[in-house]
Amino acid sequence: MGTLEQARLWVRQARRIAVLTGAGVSAESGVPTFRDAQTGIWANLRPEDLATEEAFRRNPRRVWDWYAQRRENLRDAQPNAGHAALAEFQQRHPGRMTIITQNVDRLHQKAGSTGVLALHGDLFENRWLHPCLKSDLYGGAGGGCDPAAAEPGRPPYCAECRNLVRPAVVWFGEALPEDALSAAEHAAGTCNLMLVVGTSGVVYPAAGLAHLARDSGAHVVVLNPEPTDLDQAAHLRIAGPSAQWLPLLLAEP
Ligand code: OAD
Repeated sequence: MGTLEQARLWVRQARRIAVLTGAGVSAESGVPTFRDAQTGIWANLRPEDLATEEAFRRNPRRVWDWYAQRRENLRDAQPNAGHAALAEFQQRHPGRMTIITQNVDRLHQKAGSTGVLALHGDLFENRWLHPCLKSDLYGGAGGGCDPAAAEPGRPPYCAECRNLVRPAVVWFGEALPEDALSAAEHAAGTCNLMLVVGTSGVVYPAAGLAHLARDSGAHVVVLNPEPTDLDQAAHLRIAGPSAQWLPLLLAEP
């Protein structure tokens, strides 16, 4: 049996499928990846200058402007055939597929996927740098200021306590959102098949989910045009771009 046929058989047989995606799944929507040579974001810029809390404290305007530019670049990005194939599978098979993504571009959601576990946050959302001081002062109860109502600026700020608004993405050294991570661990630990799509597999804890799935008895399929750090955890590798191969993998027989 060929590689694709084997993977398609596992898709048909699996009661529960977990899909772990990375930047590569959006590459064919024109979104740059992080580590591809030449075109990857981290091929030209240093994460420690742009994607850490320390960098933001050092130079809030530079980091804010960079994220503002990324928002601008991504605003009109459209899901590709890979995102669509995943969303259509979810619609045809309610409850069978959980999408876990490291991407912050919302393209799975735009394609119509539901219950997406966004491990690294959302590029289009903001939050305060510190817990809102006003909510502490005034007793909290879910109160506090809304970052959307901050004074305009680069970045916007709180006129009273000078708190800064930052993008609601996970920076290096930060913890992942607890709810999304524990739901992702549950999905990885209980699935029969994990598809690892468009990720280099070098960033943890996300990459650890593929090992968790394998150790829990799931079949693991890596879909990526290049070798990845998760290839050893895979039973099968499909070498190719996801917008081309996901529709073939997930189409009905
Ligand atoms: P990377 O840039 O590390 O990896 C992208 C992967 O996509 C590579 O393995 C490419 O070979 C693959 N790829 C390229 N084109 C593809 C295509 N058309 N179809 C399928 N795969 C393709 O991106 P991630 O693994 O997502 O973290 O990086 C993980 C995290 O590191 C990101 O979430 C981000 C980054 O720093 C945060 O922002 C916290």
